Amino acid sequence: MSTNPSAEETAPYGTGAAASAPTKPVRKVRTHHLREMKQRGDKITMLTSYDMYSAQIFDEAGVDLLLVGDSASNNVLGNETSLPVTVDELLPLTRAVSRSVKRAMVVGDLPFGSYQASPEQGYLTAVRFMKEAGAHCVKLEGGAEMAPVIKKLVEGGIPVIAHIGFTPQSEHVLGGYRVQGRGDTSDRIIDDAKAVQEAGAFAVVMEMVPGDVAAQITKELDIPTIGIGAGPDCDGQVLVWQDAFGMRGGKMARFVKQYADVKSVLSEGAEAYISDVKGSTFPGPEHTF
Ligand code: KIV
Repeated sequence: MSTNPSAEETAPYGTGAAASAPTKPVRKVRTHHLREMKQRGDKITMLTSYDMYSAQIFDEAGVDLLLVGDSASNNVLGNETSLPVTVDELLPLTRAVSRSVKRAMVVGDLPFGSYQASPEQGYLTAVRFMKEAGAHCVKLEGGAEMAPVIKKLVEGGIPVIAHIGFTPQSEHVLGGYRVQGRGDTSDRIIDDAKAVQEAGAFAVVMEMVPGDVAAQITKELDIPTIGIGAGPDCDGQVLVWQDAFGMRGGKMARFVKQYADVKSVLSEGAEAYISDVKGSTFPGPEHTF
């Protein structure tokens, strides 16, 4: 096997939208690129994706990381929360995304119950995401208590993104969807952030954490922080795409910004199609063999 670095490995890095230093596009996002982006102050972008076309579109747009989140449970599979989704349900979605990207880093999300029992359980689950689904790394929820799991995965060759603050898989322990780390409890979140870094995580997602606490953590950590409801000072941001692009109606969390209205586009398209079929204006001669 050749030991020469490939063109991809030697390619200059950057997204082309860096805050400083001239950069050329990254060919494949790697963990070290994200750390370098943090050092340069070049914000990191992450969106969820659960299928081929959204993955292609977001990848071509230049999103750095695509998270095949356990949020597929309540955004794709029809469940109310992320708790019911299984490894066997997430693997094919992750595979679809990893097959469809050229540049973005694909993050497999370990679902509830698939890693909390022991580091060994976590390792075996994470290996499935890497081997069977082509994930480039995995994400798991939890802070200091997950340090042994993170350590085991990283020692076994699996890059890990930790997820602290509000962790939806622990919704019932946390007492519902609530901001974590307010007032006296900020120390716990800060300790969690330091513990996951120390355990070897290469990045940390912070969900629903007060902006000032997230800013302090971002300053104190060497690894990038990626916020969702954690204010503007994180090194990057993540949103669920159905929220960000208006695929669904209903009440949105305060931290969501809606960039498009996909639901209206699809509704209008479906109504026009129904009208054409019922009015016998589709198919026309141009659609007929
Ligand atoms: O599963 C998911 O979509 C997530 C994001 C909210 C970070 O974990």
